[in-house]
Amino acid sequence: MSEKVLVCVAWPYANNDLHLGHLAGAYLPADIFARYHRLAGNDVLMVSGSDSHGTPITVAADRKGISPRELFEHYHQRFLETQQRIGISYDLFTHTDTENHHRVAQDIFLKLLEKGYVYRATQRQFFSATTGRALPDRYVEGTCPHCGYPEARGDQCDNCGRLLDALELINPRSKLDGSTPVVRDSEHFFLDLPRLQDRIAAFLTEGKDHWRPNVLNFSRNYVAAGLQGRPITRDIEWGIPVPLPGYEEKRLYVWFEAVIGYLSASIEWSRNVGRPDAWKEWWYNPEARTVYFIGKDNIPFHTIIWPAMLIGVERLYEDDPARRLNLPYDVPANEFLNLEGAKFSKSHGRAIWLPEYLEQYAPDPLRYYVTAIMPETADTNFSWAEFVRRNNDELLATWGNLCHRVLTFAYRNFEGRVPVPGLMDRADVGLLAKIDVAFGPIGRLLAGCHFRAALAEAMALAREVNRYLDEKGPWFQIKEDRTTAGTTIYVALRAIDSLKILLAPFLPFTSEALHQYLGYEGNIFGRQYIATFREDGRTHNALCYDPSGATGRWKPSELPAGQPLRPPQPLYAKLALPEDVGPTGQD
Ligand code: MF3
Ligand code: ZN
Repeated sequence: MSEKVLVCVAWPYANNDLHLGHLAGAYLPADIFARYHRLAGNDVLMVSGSDSHGTPITVAADRKGISPRELFEHYHQRFLETQQRIGISYDLFTHTDTENHHRVAQDIFLKLLEKGYVYRATQRQFFSATTGRALPDRYVEGTCPHCGYPEARGDQCDNCGRLLDALELINPRSKLDGSTPVVRDSEHFFLDLPRLQDRIAAFLTEGKDHWRPNVLNFSRNYVAAGLQGRPITRDIEWGIPVPLPGYEEKRLYVWFEAVIGYLSASIEWSRNVGRPDAWKEWWYNPEARTVYFIGKDNIPFHTIIWPAMLIGVERLYEDDPARRLNLPYDVPANEFLNLEGAKFSKSHGRAIWLPEYLEQYAPDPLRYYVTAIMPETADTNFSWAEFVRRNNDELLATWGNLCHRVLTFAYRNFEGRVPVPGLMDRADVGLLAKIDVAFGPIGRLLAGCHFRAALAEAMALAREVNRYLDEKGPWFQIKEDRTTAGTTIYVALRAIDSLKILLAPFLPFTSEALHQYLGYEGNIFGRQYIATFREDGRTHNALCYDPSGATGRWKPSELPAGQPLRPPQPLYAKLALPEDVGPTGQD
């Protein structure tokens, strides 16, 4: 029975290039998870897109002297290319400035208003003392009232993760010119979180044993402290208009509409594949699992605010009163990946940019190392020396060399074919049995988002295969008994063929290469491509995934004896520590 799995991935602000923090925090775990579920035969829908609105975009555009649209379109295009090259296999990576997203976001706003979960109130907020302009969110910085961090922003403190009202900041200053802002009144729409408090608390109580403790504790404490109404409109030009007469100058708050992207992108994908109602199989089927991959700074939006919105809306574009929009099944938020000590952050100018990485190196070595140090339960540390060491001593020495020596030996000594085995002994049967049974436990680790542990188990099996070969010594066997050597090589090839699948979620590019060398037709996974869509007279580009032609399955090798091999190439290159310790960037 195939399950429906909706893989939701945090939408990056399109205000700068993607960096390692994005990859480790959300995209790589999401991709490993999606690829595993596809191999396991489940129906995966993986969506995300560029977050194109809000002050993170306008502040950056102001600084560069270009329009917000120019800025976001530039980075959106780069996001598509970068993520295709690093192999993040979204079914759809779109953006929030599509007609479709505008409409879905406005419909949700109106639905919440109609049901009484959105109210109007006057808010005291900051304006510039020098220009009179409104200074929402990131236009004001100051000291966090909760933790004392001196560079907290008007909407959130980066240090303690708490959501803020800009007026709470100590020593507030305008990001535009450093002046002290003045307080004035402005009318806004608010999300009535107090009215939803009990239902959010209940959501965070029921059946959450599989949640990461940090995510659950943070969220429960948050709700226990008492939820307050949150303004969901802003005095800003760039964004989604408020769909009501008299509010032409206001826009929906970026965080209110960006989370709606998970739903709107699912709807857009359904249209793109010509099955306009297909999204309902993931959003209204109570058996479907919705998993949100995010960094820990995004936790309250995904465990409290978005669930509150979904609870309030109940259903959209669906008439059956028995059906309700699915709430998150899991939110396996990651901690931070630090760069040799300091937190990665674009806004603080310290990062390893993915486009620069990809100019110098292949994607799989980074995917390997980042998985091995993935910050699943605590912050971890990226180091270039460790990247090089893990590539050379583990990925290449343990796995790449294993594949290469077995494939070249088979290719040269057995007429370029998988040898026909003779009688197997205990060691042969034992090795294959050990690998065959590993599909169960490794699959469960992946489904449970324990990516580091899953990778470690698969690599331990690769070491077993190396030990087996060292004991058998097919390079000596061949001189005395061709059949016994053939049996050993057959067993090793089958082991490698299985490990190719066990490692494919982590190492999709080199697993595909290995699939070819082993003589298979077709690819393990589907194909990623960038497409242009036309919508109400405008076009937009998106990253897509075509699952047809995928041949991989989460099950042990059935490699046929006699299958013709293709000439093998080494899967990995030996790396040296770059003199400038690699591509680091300043923004
Ligand atoms: N753009 C936000 C960030 O980079 C994340 C948005 S996630 C979404 O922090 F759910 F709101 F889309
Ligand atoms: Zn703080």
